[in-house]
Amino acid sequence: MADKCICVKDFEILAAKRLDKNALDYYKSGATDEQTLKENCTAFKSWRFQPQVLRDVLNVNMESSVLGSKIAFPICIAPTAMNKMASHDGEIDSAKAANSLSTGFVLSSWATSSIEEITTNVPDVIRWFQLYVYKDKTVTENLVRRAERNGYRALIVTVDTPLLGKRYQDTRNKFALPSNLTLKNFENETTKEDGFPKGVKSARESGLAEYVASLIDPSLSWEDIDWLKTITDLPIIVKGILTAEMALEAVDHNIAGILVSNHGARQLDGVLPTINALPQVVKAVDGRCEVYLDGGIRNGGDVAKAIALGAKAVFVGRPILWGLACDGKRGAQRVLEILRDEFGVTMKLLGVTSIVELQSVHDLVIHESRILSRL
Ligand code: FNR
Ligand code: LAC
Repeated sequence: MADKCICVKDFEILAAKRLDKNALDYYKSGATDEQTLKENCTAFKSWRFQPQVLRDVLNVNMESSVLGSKIAFPICIAPTAMNKMASHDGEIDSAKAANSLSTGFVLSSWATSSIEEITTNVPDVIRWFQLYVYKDKTVTENLVRRAERNGYRALIVTVDTPLLGKRYQDTRNKFALPSNLTLKNFENETTKEDGFPKGVKSARESGLAEYVASLIDPSLSWEDIDWLKTITDLPIIVKGILTAEMALEAVDHNIAGILVSNHGARQLDGVLPTINALPQVVKAVDGRCEVYLDGGIRNGGDVAKAIALGAKAVFVGRPILWGLACDGKRGAQRVLEILRDEFGVTMKLLGVTSIVELQSVHDLVIHESRILSRL
């Protein structure tokens, strides 16, 4: 069945048949009314291509880089928690998929495979670690040290989650991590007085929401980011910036990269879809750090739009989970291949042969409201 999937949508439909309700709802949900969830995808449609023709597109080079790490094409795997609900080897499958195509992989703090297991099983994968900052700074520091020791090349610090967004379906389901799985990075944490949760179990509402409320630091501020910079030499990317103002603060704090993200519309509903937030961030940053985007990428055209508007690379979340659910590592790899190939076709049809060209040709991608306002 998975062999018949020829686009990301096909994987999504098949995955919905394969996953159980607890996992499917957790993976696909957005916050509250899911306005931004829908818009993350549909907003791409209002950005239009203005292609060039007669440009010799025989050879196209999709290579890009993230903080100096070369990637074969600018589509990497976003951090998503609990991949083992989708496939037996979960994050190891995802990392193998990225590695087989020479692109990058981000491991979630709340993965069901550990920092070390990725390194042991997929030693060559270009990898970054997504960090949630715990109230207990020693827990946070331990994660940083393990990422350093295990060849992770940057910390991607998620800054949009002082608490978990409301996801109605997870509340209804009393979302829980199946009992055979654990948040692997914390398996060896010493038990605290009030008990360090070994898993994510349902109680009154979403088990994950309760986990976050009990352990994640809601007082997170730039001071903590500055503190992180004093304890590690790993470059820091902040994930979850959507405005020019916040981007300027990041630049002031000498951040290496900004991931324009609304957390797959799972945190604050009503924020802008990321593709519409990207241009103001790119403009404010003005080349002083790298800018990336995630959210709503479902085909190669979406990738081209984000890159043309100034993202150095994009990250994909749910499409990888759909791939895993359909066919493990092979499924995740197919999803990446499909996005890569569609991106290549789009570049050729736009008349560009490199990422630099895609980003430098004037108005190759333009918001349709600008075209219409000229009529
Ligand atoms: C996420 N995301 C996320 N982000 C993060 O920083 N740490 C995490 O552990 C997770 N976990 C997670 C689980 C699931 C099921 C989803 C869908 C998302 C957000 C993720 O990194 C990314 O921002 C979005 O998934 C991008 O949107 P798309 O590609 O899913 O539309
Ligand atoms: C989520 C957390 C894990 O979005 O980031 O579910």
